[in-house]
Amino acid sequence: MSRGFENIPSSWHEQIMNLLAERIVIVDRNGIILYINEAYCEFIGTTINQAIGRPVQEVIENSRMHIVAKTGKKELAALQPINGSEMIANRFPLFENGEVVGALGTVMFRNPEEWRMYQSKIQQLVDELTYYQTKVQKDLKSKYSFQDLIGTSSAFLAAKKLAERVSGSNSSVLLIGESGTGKELFAHAIHENSFRSSAPFVAINCASIPEHLLESELYGYEEGAFTGAKKGGKMGQFELANGGTLFLDEIGDMPLSMQSKLLRVLQEKELQRVGGHKFIPVDVRIIAATHRDLEKMVKGGNFRQDLYYRLNVIKIDIPPLRKRKEDIPLISMNLLKKLEKRFYRKGIELSDEVLKRLMEHTWPGNIRELENVLERCINVLDGKTIQLGHLPLYLRDQKNECDDPIQSTFKTNKGTPTLPLQPLKETLAQAEKQAIQHALAAANGNKLEAAKLLDIGKTSFYEKCKLYNIK
Ligand SMILES: Nc1ncnc2c1ncn2[C@@H]1O[C@H](COP(=O)(O)OP(=O)(O)OP(=O)(O)O)[C@@H](O)[C@H]1O
Ligand SMILES: [Mg+2]
Repeated sequence: MSRGFENIPSSWHEQIMNLLAERIVIVDRNGIILYINEAYCEFIGTTINQAIGRPVQEVIENSRMHIVAKTGKKELAALQPINGSEMIANRFPLFENGEVVGALGTVMFRNPEEWRMYQSKIQQLVDELTYYQTKVQKDLKSKYSFQDLIGTSSAFLAAKKLAERVSGSNSSVLLIGESGTGKELFAHAIHENSFRSSAPFVAINCASIPEHLLESELYGYEEGAFTGAKKGGKMGQFELANGGTLFLDEIGDMPLSMQSKLLRVLQEKELQRVGGHKFIPVDVRIIAATHRDLEKMVKGGNFRQDLYYRLNVIKIDIPPLRKRKEDIPLISMNLLKKLEKRFYRKGIELSDEVLKRLMEHTWPGNIRELENVLERCINVLDGKTIQLGHLPLYLRDQKNECDDPIQSTFKTNKGTPTLPLQPLKETLAQAEKQAIQHALAAANGNKLEAAKLLDIGKTSFYEKCKLYNIK
């Protein structure tokens, strides 16, 4: 079979040999030098003419080339003393029809210093690699435990106890809760408390990954699966989570087409990478979370019923903050402690009026909104006590909120409706504008989060902001 060597003109051979490795010697089966390059001759203080045709052990100090040409056993990175220093040699036997016919020797480093220099360069790379490996492993660890889940209200304790009880099992968990209620914290805590805790915790947000990338992100791909696919392919999050937990956040936003593949992987416990044929077994515990009403989505044909059943083995409902208002003081204190550390402050307190105000608010953005509010307070606070004036405007001005924040803005303090008599369109537009402003305030100006609070797409959110001239 042609391997293309015959295409290389023989006049090139010597040049190529000189370029391939710095120092080369070739001997026949009796250890007679057939070829030696200039670099080698220079290194040992001889010339090509003087060296060729002579036994290798007479030309090169401490050579073992004649031995390798007999034994047929290669010797890699062998230390060989020459001129009082130890160089590093590789010796390879050459075969013809299965029989040893000679040997090829190369010298990679002329002395240990050269080797050490090379080694220190490699060592730097190895150190860098270890650094990133530990960083990735740390990222793949759960960051919270059940101790971080603050709250003593019965609604919250019921959810927390259930989560604690099922953390040891392998069954899928479905976390349901409004935005900012702590779904992600629960997922971390469940993994941390399970026998999988030393294996990876991998979180993937189904809503933030473009649909066309989700499949390769989850299952990985083989080399050449599509244009731009990396050489050697790529491992997906499922494989990365092997032995551990895969947290599928915002599962309600997973496109239908992807839902079928997910179901298949959950049932078969094996997957195929995109563009691959091999089945790769995976042992992964699934925790899924969503703020959407999955049952309603199933009824509307937007979520596969069979997948819903598969995920809904253990359902944990995390109550919104307005249904556990008694937890607000404790959670606020804990959040303040966290913020104090971040802002290098100490001894910050809430005034009674502020605490009362916080207890009255309905918290559509739940604990995340509370966190944002307290962070804002610390930013504008000079002394130690947070007063009403430090609260964001929307919290300062809203009085006697009812459970529906939109409705409340159209009511007087006595609760009598004060809807102006005007075209319905106008009233709806006003309500919409106020809802957007409220959501933006609750999300600390973060438009994506605000859109999530209103449960509308980001494009539609941006359009509405433009329409109502909201910056
Ligand atoms: N029980 C709790 N005790 C203390 N802090 C909490 C608790 N629950 C949530 N938090 C804090 O509230 C914030 C929001 O929590 P998390 O990200 O888990 O919410 P989520 O339900 O996943 O929200 P989303 O649906 O918007 O993703 C986090 O900063 C978290 O630290
Ligand atoms: Mg979340």
